[in-house]
Amino acid sequence: MTSSLQGPFLITGASGHLGRRVVDLVLDAQAGPLIVTTRHPDKLADLAARGVEVRAADFTKPETLASAFAGAHRVLIVSTDDLTPGQRFASHKAAIEAAAAAGVRHIVYTSLTNPGADSPISFAGDHAGTEAALVACGVPHSILRNNLYTDLFLMTAPQAIASGTLYAAAGNGRVGYVTREDCARAAAAALLTAEGSRTFDITGPGLVAQADVARMLAEISGRPVTYVPLAPADLRQGMVQQGLPAELAALLVSIDEAIAKGTLAVVSSAVEDLTGRAPTSVRAFLEAHAGTLAPPAS
Ligand SMILES: NC(=O)c1ccc[n+]([C@@H]2O[C@H](COP(=O)([O-])OP(=O)(O)OC[C@H]3O[C@@H](n4cnc5c(N)ncnc54)[C@H](OP(=O)(O)O)[C@@H]3O)[C@@H](O)[C@H]2O)c1
Repeated sequence: MTSSLQGPFLITGASGHLGRRVVDLVLDAQAGPLIVTTRHPDKLADLAARGVEVRAADFTKPETLASAFAGAHRVLIVSTDDLTPGQRFASHKAAIEAAAAAGVRHIVYTSLTNPGADSPISFAGDHAGTEAALVACGVPHSILRNNLYTDLFLMTAPQAIASGTLYAAAGNGRVGYVTREDCARAAAAALLTAEGSRTFDITGPGLVAQADVARMLAEISGRPVTYVPLAPADLRQGMVQQGLPAELAALLVSIDEAIAKGTLAVVSSAVEDLTGRAPTSVRAFLEAHAGTLAPPAS
């Protein structure tokens, strides 16, 4: 990936999983100059040692943002992981306004598939509001509507394999799961090359239902795994009984409700269009992590 466009490039949230990976991809592409922002500059000392300018920025502290974005031409704003209702939108809006005031020429933002009012996902409104703020700020922008990370199965699949049951409240809904690596590659490509204002659906190569995932896990692990669809209220109650905070359980179940409703059943060619490489399928991802999902019996 090469950049036809001029830096300085700036990446926010650079100590997060996605942000850090985008930083590495931009460095691999030898694009620069590169500025990164984070709430934890101490975690990025290795980048500073490699000539990256590391700045402190916390979107919940707007007074930190003018200096954070100063001098940047092209900016990737990584959405935050704040669970406080409405806080994510306020944070993102503050970042967008600061970037626009600093005179940046292009803003890339990591959004969510179909974040409109009909999405059951509890934080979809934060993304829809941010997209609107991005349009309103008048700066050319790329909205990357990342579908659900395939990587989320690294958290749920081991238990499903161990118990033989994959529980979800997703009905027969299907999802265009996309790996975080493909999201990072798409974000790096957009940061370095996208022009004008466009919305991209960042997805994997195909639609996958929970029953498909259960079948893949069974085949990969050699153990029986069955998908058991639950009612949203029952799944929420089970999660809380297992010790999950009620707010987090509600958020996770709202994602399942979105799957059941079909708002995440989106597949596009955007990853390949942006990066030149086809996205990784769910099966290929799970096969690559087979050892983590189901350690061989000793
Ligand atoms: N599509 C999906 O399935 C999916 C799954 C999980 C998350 N996401 C979204 O994608 C984003 C990136 O994913 P990830 O895997 O990299 O998550 P992650 O590792 O949890 O990273 C969280 C990110 O939020 C940033 N952040 C949190 N609070 C902030 C604040 N007050 N000001 C500025 N930045 C703040 C962090 O930046 P620093 O720590 O460097 O300050 C970091 O980049 C998440 O934050 C979330 O919005 C999507």
